[in-house]
Amino acid sequence: MKKGKFISCLAVTAAVVLSATLLVFAAQQPPETITIKPSIWNKLSMPPVTFSHKKHVTEDKIACSQCHMVYKDGKNVWKEGDPVEKCEKCHNEPTTKGEFTLPPDKKKLNLKLSFHTLCIGCHRKVKNQKPTANAPIVCNGCHKPAAAK
Ligand code: HEC
Ligand code: HEC
Ligand code: HEC
Ligand code: HEC
Repeated sequence: MKKGKFISCLAVTAAVVLSATLLVFAAQQPPETITIKPSIWNKLSMPPVTFSHKKHVTEDKIACSQCHMVYKDGKNVWKEGDPVEKCEKCHNEPTTKGEFTLPPDKKKLNLKLSFHTLCIGCHRKVKNQKPTANAPIVCNGCHKPAAAK
């Protein structure tokens, strides 16, 4: 192979690797704020919840793996750079009324409980340590009526 050809070949390879890296990186950037409206529920009975990555990740320095997960042998093996799936991809049990009475295996897959356990669970801990913290545990702290936003 001529030297010129070899170098342009290297350049192309480098460009391909670089753009692939950028693509993965772009795919992993969390949106600053998201309004969570899972598609397994046709209709929400409460106002939809707005969640801020900016607040939780940038300001409060909470690790992605506190909320994003892939389980293997009972351990969360998700690490930064891995694809992020919506909660409902795995927690696809749709009951939203009386979900506490589901059998344990269904409870783990229940979507409403998965959100409440994660979000309210941590906020309770935060409030226990610092009662003045703005980590809502009451319904309308998260399910804000549209007019109050
Ligand atoms: C305190 C919890 C929490 C933390 C910490 C967190 N996220 Fe999220 N993230 C969420 C929730 C909740 C959603 C919405 C999931 C859904 O719609 O089912 C989400 C959605 C996303 C999405 C969009 C997925 C989609 O399909 O729309 C990406 C990408 C993402 N997060 C990446 C990250 C990365 C990277 C980090 C760490 C730098 C991070 N998140 C930290 C809770 C969190
Ligand atoms: C790739 C699949 C997958 C995704 C995506 C996922 N989870 Fe999970 N989640 C699991 C598995 C598996 C477990 C472990 C269940 C067990 O203990 O057997 C689990 C456990 C949990 C638990 C602990 C349940 C308990 O009863 O101890 C909570 C809370 C939870 N997930 C919330 C969420 C939330 C909220 C999201 C979205 C931000 C999410 N999960 C995304 C698969 C997933
Ligand atoms: C690992 C801990 C943790 C988890 C999990 C978590 N939060 Fe928070 N959240 C916090 C902390 C810490 C604050 C900020 C407290 C402060 O600054 O005083 C906060 C603040 C908030 C606020 C008020 C500030 C704002 O952005 O308006 C909302 C709303 C909120 N969280 C929603 C959620 C939702 C929805 C989820 C679940 C998808 C969630 N949080 C999961 C720790 C957590
Ligand atoms: C820390 C935040 C947080 C608090 C506090 C909270 N929720 Fe939720 N809740 C969520 C998230 C996140 C979802 C899933 C996303 C969505 O529905 O927008 C959800 C989903 C629901 C759903 C299923 C969807 C629907 O609208 O029908 C119901 C019902 C619900 N919550 C009721 C309540 C009630 C009642 C309270 C007070 C006792 C409450 N929540 C407190 C975060 C919270």
